[in-house]
Amino acid sequence: MSEQRIIKNTPEMDEFENETGKLAIWKGKESKEFRKWQVKRQKNSIKKQKADTLSLSREQRKQMKIDLKQEKEIGKDYEHLIVVENLHKTYLLGTTAVAALRGVDLTIDKGNFIDIMGPSGSGKTTLLNLIGGLDTPTRGKIFLEGRNISMLNDNALAEIRRERIGFVFQFYNLLPQMTALENVMVPLHFSGKLSRRGKRKKALDLLALVGLEERSHHTPSELSGGEQQRVAIARAFANDPAICVLDEPTGDLDSKTGILILNLLRDLNKRGATFISVSHDAAVSEFATKVFHMRDGKLTHEGKIGGLKETEAMQLKRKQDAEINKEKCKSMIFRYLFANQGKTHIMVNDIKNSIPNPIIANLPEHFNDILTELLQENNINGKVIGDALLLD
Ligand SMILES: Nc1ncnc2c1ncn2[C@@H]1O[C@H](COP(=O)(O)OP(=O)(O)OP(=O)(O)O)[C@@H](O)[C@H]1O
Ligand SMILES: [Mg+2]
Repeated sequence: MSEQRIIKNTPEMDEFENETGKLAIWKGKESKEFRKWQVKRQKNSIKKQKADTLSLSREQRKQMKIDLKQEKEIGKDYEHLIVVENLHKTYLLGTTAVAALRGVDLTIDKGNFIDIMGPSGSGKTTLLNLIGGLDTPTRGKIFLEGRNISMLNDNALAEIRRERIGFVFQFYNLLPQMTALENVMVPLHFSGKLSRRGKRKKALDLLALVGLEERSHHTPSELSGGEQQRVAIARAFANDPAICVLDEPTGDLDSKTGILILNLLRDLNKRGATFISVSHDAAVSEFATKVFHMRDGKLTHEGKIGGLKETEAMQLKRKQDAEINKEKCKSMIFRYLFANQGKTHIMVNDIKNSIPNPIIANLPEHFNDILTELLQENNINGKVIGDALLLD
């Protein structure tokens, strides 16, 4: 048959022949079968194209949905500056899970000065770190200016911290080799919005705001604790943050200097700055516009310390919890002693550190008394002397 061919097969004809086992050229012309096959193939190809376009628009529709959802989460019109919803944070310490936050709900509005008080280990720093974008929650949501920041990745969180949050810590955290002015300029460098001269001017204005314009060329070691904290506050405001978070802002200062810092914060707050602070210091609550109390990873109640009375039910619950904690504490001490058999000298603090803070923070008696009671109950020959436990 092939000798009857006058024209040569095209690749398409070869394909036809391979597929059907029939000849594409018959009597020197394209065969009817081939032409039919060609038309059919074209139709199929158009169909496929249509289907592709359809599925593409399905993809696009999906993308639009995601965009819309994100837009909702970004929420251009937001009612509250910060909304915290059912926030949980659990740390894993080896195989032990420490529930540092156990369902915190909180709303912060622009111009609030919120103080959160609570015993050591109650979760204050954990809450601040989550609101400040230093860490992410195990469960729950945080909306900052209407945007859900609880799911953001590290880069996006770093940007939020840089642009929207000011931080003030107990130990100031200034860079020791740099002057006060340079320290305040650091966040301005990172945001890269101003010229060198603009940054300098802004940093000097901020130092003037905290009353330190004359100390701008001093390094931290040449400044007192209160002055260093004022520099830290100026630095926190460098990028006009939506909120300034403060962790024990007066924790390292004597009470007089602490009051000076609080007066400064109150001034800034009156000019519109929003603060959330955590502390053990009752003085902070005197300056705050709203005070919350925290215990065992939960916000327990709202109110200024003077104006608030623990109800009988709350008192009873606290006492019951303390008794339960005492039993937990004893079994943990026992476990520690068991693991350290043979030692004759153990630091009480080492035992304490093996027990979660929330337990230590709410005990009905002094830790040393509980330790002594446990030794007696178990006929262990030992004595607490000073900060050590001596065993025979
Ligand atoms: N990185 C971590 N890894 C494991 N556990 C942690 C971590 N950070 C905090 N915790 C635990 O979570 C609980 C809450 O700690 P957090 O530091 O938030 O308390 P706090 O109220 O700030 O205490 P303090 O007043 O002593 O500063 C504590 O039991 C603590 O031991
Ligand atoms: Mg803390």
